[in-house]
Amino acid sequence: MTTQELIRTAFAAREKAYAPYSRFTVGAALEAKDGRVFTGCNIESATYTPTCCAERTALVKAVSEGVREFSRIAIVGAAQGKVNTLVTSPCGVCRQFLYEFGGDGLEVILARSEEDYITMTLGQLLPIGFGPANLE
Ligand code: THU
Repeated sequence: MTTQELIRTAFAAREKAYAPYSRFTVGAALEAKDGRVFTGCNIESATYTPTCCAERTALVKAVSEGVREFSRIAIVGAAQGKVNTLVTSPCGVCRQFLYEFGGDGLEVILARSEEDYITMTLGQLLPIGFGPANLE
């Protein structure tokens, strides 16, 4: 899948977001090393705390299907019904959750549109992360 296609997939996932409280909708498309793509959207709760970000939704879907190795994730987000002006960068919890399976090398694509995006590694977003290797 091209980067543009991965971003398009994240935009499609964003359509499914359930965000009646923040009204900020997010979509993610997580590409596994075997080429499969798992999508996620943010899912909020009336009690707020259990909210699941789009990135973690995608990761939970993948891992629960037995997939644990990933190469890229595209993330898009904006206030509901609006075009995103800022990139949506994964929250600290999602960075940590992605680190568990992606490690430093996971490519994180923060997109405003299919043509306008920045790419960073998870190692840049979460330097000196604490992960599985620390517990060996
Ligand atoms: N959110 C995500 O889903 N991913 C991010 O990268 C940033 C924030 C969600 C959580 C919440 O539902 C809403 O966006 C506002 O914070």
